[in-house]
Amino acid sequence: MCGIVGYIGHREAGSVLIQGLQKLEYRGYDSSGVAIHESPSIQIRKKKGRVSEMAALFKASPVAGTLGIGHTRWATHGETNDQNSHPHVGGNGEVVIVHNGVIENYSSLRTQLQALGYVFRTTTDTETVAHLLSHHLEEQIKLGADPSELSTYLKVVEITLSKLKGTYGLVIMFQDLPNLLIAARLGSPLVIGVGKGEHFIASDASPLIGYTDEVIYLSDHEIAVITEDEVEVIHRDEGQQKLSIQTLDQVSVDSDLGDFEHYMLKEIFEQPQTLENAMRGRIDEDEATAKFGGLNLSAQQLRNIDRVVLTACGTSWHSGLVGEYLLEEFARIPTEVEYASELRYRNPPISNDTMIFAITQSGETADTLAAMRECKRKGHPTLAICNVVGSSIAREADGGIYLHAGPEVGVASTKAFTSQVMVMIQLALFLGRMRHLSYPAGRRIIDAIQKIPDQIQKCLECNDLIKDISNKYCNFNNFLYLGRLYNFPGALEGALKLKEISYIHAEGYPAAEMKHGPIALVDEETPSVFVVPRGQIYPKVMSNLEEVKARKGPVIAIACEGDKKIADIADDVIYVPDVEDFLQPLVTAIPLQLLSYHIAVLRGCNVDRPRNLAKSVTVE
Ligand code: F6R
Repeated sequence: MCGIVGYIGHREAGSVLIQGLQKLEYRGYDSSGVAIHESPSIQIRKKKGRVSEMAALFKASPVAGTLGIGHTRWATHGETNDQNSHPHVGGNGEVVIVHNGVIENYSSLRTQLQALGYVFRTTTDTETVAHLLSHHLEEQIKLGADPSELSTYLKVVEITLSKLKGTYGLVIMFQDLPNLLIAARLGSPLVIGVGKGEHFIASDASPLIGYTDEVIYLSDHEIAVITEDEVEVIHRDEGQQKLSIQTLDQVSVDSDLGDFEHYMLKEIFEQPQTLENAMRGRIDEDEATAKFGGLNLSAQQLRNIDRVVLTACGTSWHSGLVGEYLLEEFARIPTEVEYASELRYRNPPISNDTMIFAITQSGETADTLAAMRECKRKGHPTLAICNVVGSSIAREADGGIYLHAGPEVGVASTKAFTSQVMVMIQLALFLGRMRHLSYPAGRRIIDAIQKIPDQIQKCLECNDLIKDISNKYCNFNNFLYLGRLYNFPGALEGALKLKEISYIHAEGYPAAEMKHGPIALVDEETPSVFVVPRGQIYPKVMSNLEEVKARKGPVIAIACEGDKKIADIADDVIYVPDVEDFLQPLVTAIPLQLLSYHIAVLRGCNVDRPRNLAKSVTVE
């Protein structure tokens, strides 16, 4: 949420920053801006709208210089307009900053600074930090500090940070320090790219690709001083830190669109491959189990697990729900799925032998990170199921499992969801085989999941049919999504996909629960998407479907190949391969994703950058 980039070196900062912001745009696209040190002052170009709009402004009015910072915004405080765009200026221009996070005490700080004569030009929380830095700089100089000494500025930053409540990833430029950047982190990610005679800083590694694969991840309470040739990292309590330079694993980040019109569509079509990747090296056919390299728990610890808590947000929470059903069915381990935003402040009893799993695509979701930290504080082994290598959650977890799905650029999560489900299946198999699951049952699961990439490929063949169906339904304004057992999380996820990219109101429900209220919504104008592949309770879901039809509700059914009966009842049917119940959330995810994609495109929505959203939610 909000993307930050900074550069110091020998290149023109403007193009490095703008290219970097384009890669970070998935983190927010309300507005963007850059600040470049064009001696003796700092010049700013910023604008509401996409990075391309700011880039056009920059082209029309360029700034030369080799030191600069940039920001792409997802608004938290203050509406989206040119003024509220970052970078923000402190005092009379002696300080310029970019910020990701939320300053919770900004209102009282603002009042104090206004009383001191500071004039606010924006309604953001960030501007208070800029003025606070200016104020303490002035104070320190009055007290006799040397304005040409770095130590003066470091002290100013330290005093300022001590006054802030909330979260920040901050990059600061001082007008009188034309050869360095200062960065600070608490709760919002920052990574430094180490080059030759140049350094980069960004919210994630994507802007560094092509320049360097050597990185330093900043941790909370650390301040970095970055010059062309050096990086110094100072921890608030522990002082100067030994630098830990790591090599990026995902150097060849393939985020080109290729022949696809949108990233979302590209990522939907990548799923046969990403599901294969989620299994690679993890299937042990001889032992009829799965194996994981990075759990970092002994066999005894794994056997002692008597409960699992899965915590996540959004789509990842939906894959957690599938995980609950899987872990309880295959491993007989009582499992709960907690919204991370609730778990972080709740205080549920958690026994010593409970294993916590944080599920996250980005590895940066603020609530998930906070819930994980809260569980760690209480001494529980806390593991992550995560896509982004080197992300905050991946680094802070005691161990975990990577999805290996590659970068997910589209804001609506697609391939990460199916990879998370695939990892959960293997985790349930692994823990099950340590407990009650027999060898033949393990083999059956393995045989079934190995067929999945081909079956997903088959599901993708429905794309044209789904486009036609979407044409028929794209002007409806309310949808219900209904399914039972493994298809209930699928229904929730289908509804979320439609809501977030087409802005159509959609509700996901367990199909039978509909009778307890939502059925009142059913009429000719409210289509229901029934996820009804053959399985344990197929006849029951069919009865629910009939109930909707009896009330003249249009029905789109996602059903198994060969199900002729359903074609007589539903208005439209999308067929998927007939798979075991626990694999249904994978095969049905594809038509659900494609349906929301095509409806959103037909409604003229920006599917990759839906309004009000950001790819990685780093504020709570
Ligand atoms: C929906 C979506 C969000 C994310 C949620 C958690 O398509 O993408 O609901 O799933 O913000 O994000 P991660 O998985 O990165 O923690």
